[in-house]
Amino acid sequence: PETVTGSAQLTAKSGTEAILPGKNARVLGYRNGILGPTLRVQSGSEVTFRFSNNLSEDSNIHWHGLLVPAEMDGHPAQVVRAGESFPYTFRINQAASTAWYHPHPHEKTARQAYLGLAGMIIVETPTERALNLPSGSYELPLIIQDKRLDGTGSPQYTPTMQDVMMGFMGETITVNGVGGAFHPVATRMYRMRVVNGSNGRIYNLALSNEAPFWVIGTDGGLLPTPEAVTALLLSPGERADLLVDFSKLPVGTELYLKSNTFPGASAQGKQAFNILKFRVDKAETDSFQMPASLATITTLSTAAVAKSRSFSIGMNMGNMNMGNMKGMHTINGKVYSMDRIDETVKLGDTEIWDFDNKGDEPHPMHLHSTFFQVLSRVGGRNTLFANEKGWKDTVLVMPGERVRVICRFDKPGLFVAHCHNLEHEDDGMMLNFRVS
Ligand code: C2O
Ligand code: CU
Ligand code: CU
Repeated sequence: PETVTGSAQLTAKSGTEAILPGKNARVLGYRNGILGPTLRVQSGSEVTFRFSNNLSEDSNIHWHGLLVPAEMDGHPAQVVRAGESFPYTFRINQAASTAWYHPHPHEKTARQAYLGLAGMIIVETPTERALNLPSGSYELPLIIQDKRLDGTGSPQYTPTMQDVMMGFMGETITVNGVGGAFHPVATRMYRMRVVNGSNGRIYNLALSNEAPFWVIGTDGGLLPTPEAVTALLLSPGERADLLVDFSKLPVGTELYLKSNTFPGASAQGKQAFNILKFRVDKAETDSFQMPASLATITTLSTAAVAKSRSFSIGMNMGNMNMGNMKGMHTINGKVYSMDRIDETVKLGDTEIWDFDNKGDEPHPMHLHSTFFQVLSRVGGRNTLFANEKGWKDTVLVMPGERVRVICRFDKPGLFVAHCHNLEHEDDGMMLNFRVS
């Protein structure tokens, strides 16, 4: 997608895109074709994203990973009606990071995001620029999504009860809206900003030569130090800022970013598949130096915790047995209601939120309005991962896991927390919290 620096016009509308070569898919997007522009914003600056809704139904925009005032956050109750516009205006004031934007209308998020409404946001700061991380053509914004395509190559969104249970998954893996994606590279270190923009699919990111790569950032910004890994699990909504080294590969080498199999999630993770193909096309000299440290992260102290809340995330068997198509996924037994306030938080308080997954499906849990730190994971995988050593807004809670996060609530107003499996979210796995 194209890159826009600063303010922009974003219009939700239908268009066409060659997701598969030679086929003109019917899609949704914010400009022409699928997805929206990559928005580059400077921390400290004020931006206006004027949103026009050219769909025939409600929509809005949520700025996932931007700390914005409640009235700009795209809460499901703040929709922009068909044919109307809304100027999202706010000042960016946060660390350098990779965020994204997508619709959030009640019970319509999954379908609209699936059909193509999403885009990346890059927050820049002078401190980060001083690190001299790979930039320009050595920095790749990658939105990964899976699509179920019909005979015309168009994505279809027709979830069955089974899809609502597991998340709507497709067999065509797309990168920035293109299936079978390919990118030529030089003998250099590359920065890849990865957004998992899929509705339900988790990727276990790896390189086809099993070489290590570095995780340098997560949802809320850079990690304290680069973390070398050979695989990284990324669930829907999460971002990974990665460094991948092509500098020692001979020209002509072909390599894939792929997804490895992984255990723990019932139906997912049994298959490995390619995501993005690279070919080393050009020899260049690379003077890149891996920074020893990236960012300073102040650990939130549990001594400051004013309140702990537990959330049991899973199934409402009653609703399922009744054959209801809604309300199978719940938080503390409740299906989301737009006008019920589930939690009331005191402005400025530090709290622990404890997500307990007793079911058999993975749930990437996401909080609006704040970033959190992951304190512990008990049960299941029983550990914290490389990308959980920094500020997060979405954390994967696998079946049998209990994950505790700590955060401070500094933005007043009404926000949501929810599972970022978008079928689960639309099914009701979401709550309202008010900070005041
Ligand atoms: Cu990315 Cu409430 O969502
Ligand atoms: Cu969000
Ligand atoms: Cu879920």
